[in-house]
Amino acid sequence: MTRRHLAPAFAAIATAQLLLAACGHVPPARAPAAGTPPGVEAGCRVPGERGIVVGAGQPGDTTLPEPASGYRTGLQPAFARRYMVSTSNALASAAGCAVLARGGSAADAAVAVQAVLGLTVPEATGLGAGGLLLYYDAGRKTVQAYDGRETAPAAATGDYLRYIDAASERQAPLPSARASGRAIGTPGLPRLLEAVQRDHGRLAWRDLFGDAITLSTNGFPIGGRLADAIALNAASLKRDRAAAAYFLHADGSPKALGTRLANPAYADTLQRLAEQGADAFYTGSIAQDIVASIATTRAADGSPITPGKTTLADLAGYQAKRREPVCTTYREYWVCGMPPPSSGGITVASALGILEHFDLARYKPAAIDGEGGHPSVTGVHLVSEAERLAYADRDKYVADTDFVPLPGGTWDTLLNQRYLQGRARLIDLRASMRTASPGKLGTVPLGVDPALAEHGTSHFSIVDGDGNVLTATTTVESSMGSFHMTRGFLLNNQLTDFSADPADPAGTPYANRLAPGKRPRSSMAPTLVFRKAADGSRGDFLMATGSPGGGAIPQYVVKTLVGMLDWGLDAQQAAGLVDFGAFNSPITTLGGEHPYIDTADGGNRDALITGLRALGHTVGTAAQPSGVNTILRVRRDGVPVLQGGTDPRREGVVLGDTIRP
Ligand code: DON
Repeated sequence: MTRRHLAPAFAAIATAQLLLAACGHVPPARAPAAGTPPGVEAGCRVPGERGIVVGAGQPGDTTLPEPASGYRTGLQPAFARRYMVSTSNALASAAGCAVLARGGSAADAAVAVQAVLGLTVPEATGLGAGGLLLYYDAGRKTVQAYDGRETAPAAATGDYLRYIDAASERQAPLPSARASGRAIGTPGLPRLLEAVQRDHGRLAWRDLFGDAITLSTNGFPIGGRLADAIALNAASLKRDRAAAAYFLHADGSPKALGTRLANPAYADTLQRLAEQGADAFYTGSIAQDIVASIATTRAADGSPITPGKTTLADLAGYQAKRREPVCTTYREYWVCGMPPPSSGGITVASALGILEHFDLARYKPAAIDGEGGHPSVTGVHLVSEAERLAYADRDKYVADTDFVPLPGGTWDTLLNQRYLQGRARLIDLRASMRTASPGKLGTVPLGVDPALAEHGTSHFSIVDGDGNVLTATTTVESSMGSFHMTRGFLLNNQLTDFSADPADPAGTPYANRLAPGKRPRSSMAPTLVFRKAADGSRGDFLMATGSPGGGAIPQYVVKTLVGMLDWGLDAQQAAGLVDFGAFNSPITTLGGEHPYIDTADGGNRDALITGLRALGHTVGTAAQPSGVNTILRVRRDGVPVLQGGTDPRREGVVLGDTIRP
């Protein structure tokens, strides 16, 4: 078990602001009025205790480096009056908050947040990546999904990832599919940001990159997770000249926690993006450099790299897509999620639709505290069984619907109440099903595809002063993506989210097989929850959430939703709550990084572990890399306010026009 006791998130904030202020992009601190109690809001600033940025790697940040699955206890929910931003990086939250304080919309703030994340957490996200988001327009009361998922190049075939050449060289790409040019999908994030900001921005696009450009130019101290990612991936980064020059010292040793890292190439890319829009990325010299990087055939040490086949036409033709969200009811709420090519929204909705048939509120955690309390055996049993059933269907049926339609041509086939009631009947309160079968749906034969483990993603949630909401998950796929770097950013390895083989051993094709122009199936699940109005329609906004975590993302999101909607946890408690859940396998996960999971003696002293084993679950206690960032609308003293929580397993902070907890 790994336990980390970090300074409260507030401590991060003052110095994050000071860093940006020092760069000249945030107005100087407005001192709290005389007599204002400590902790009371001052713009985006919350007075810090020791002025330490959690995760910024500064002297005094004794708690870092944070391993992939650390856990910091003692976080408190943050409260704000009108606007709030919750991200996994203090500098990104500060940049987003500064935009909101200037009157920017959630879409404007997202551009600033993402531009900084691409600098400070490049292991997880950046311009060479993809992302998915939901936007709630409070004025029109509409929810729109935006799909900035990467695409496979036009020249790709079903064998693109498994053979160098299906006819002449039937061996895996070198040095691996993931680290070769074959893994790299045409990036989607610049077009995604442009699309949502065009639709919903209030400030000028060109004015949203200032903090990121200044930080890239002047440098920022390497944080704990980034330091960790550099050290872990040093050998792979060494193969790419640009990545080695940026992340490693001249002698090849990894740059360590606290080292100041400036990225003038990224500053230049952002400047062009600011001035010319996303065209600056998808055409011209940046596009040429992306294509050249993907086409690399030799590593810096001379060893072979299998090139990808992305062309300038692939880049120029890339489009972010506006899609209809998957909105379903759960008890007295509406839950809206991401449609295909993500399986996230459908998997979450399926699990919830099954859980609705059980009185989950009876099985809430015991001794609920800041870390979410101690989950009950029956609570974990029910949720993980519902997830087995949901994953069984998603593994078989859900992929990019522009290529492979869902059974019946609609997600309703998988999510309608009658069908999910039947699925719920398969759950036995006394024994785990261990592995579920997919429902018998549709007429097209499809193989069942196994899940993958990944570590390169970030989630953020934003509410602006007018009540508009944006919740986004963005990803390079695995930590440091494909290790190909150009113009200051890493290129993703998102195409490894396709099924590696086009068909199962019997030759039945997978829905998620690779095809030119197709988007790999995602598990990302940015989620918005609304109250039901009196007439049953979608009513007021209640919460925004989501998480990184690869295939496990729906589990982290369901845990958060059940924690808040069924068990009454606040945004921070739900983020901190033990990460529990299951893929469609006999293993039920209880994140061993959590202080309340006792992994000593094979788990035999932990009543939750032994209780689940008695029901037939195989319990896994691997540390979990969730990164939940939630904003909830609540009433305090009769006044509506925002409440924010950030995952104690990452380095996030919540900022806004903050008020005392
Ligand atoms: O789209 C997906 O589902 C994955 N590429 C996300 C990867 C991920 O979340 C890694 N996380 N820490």
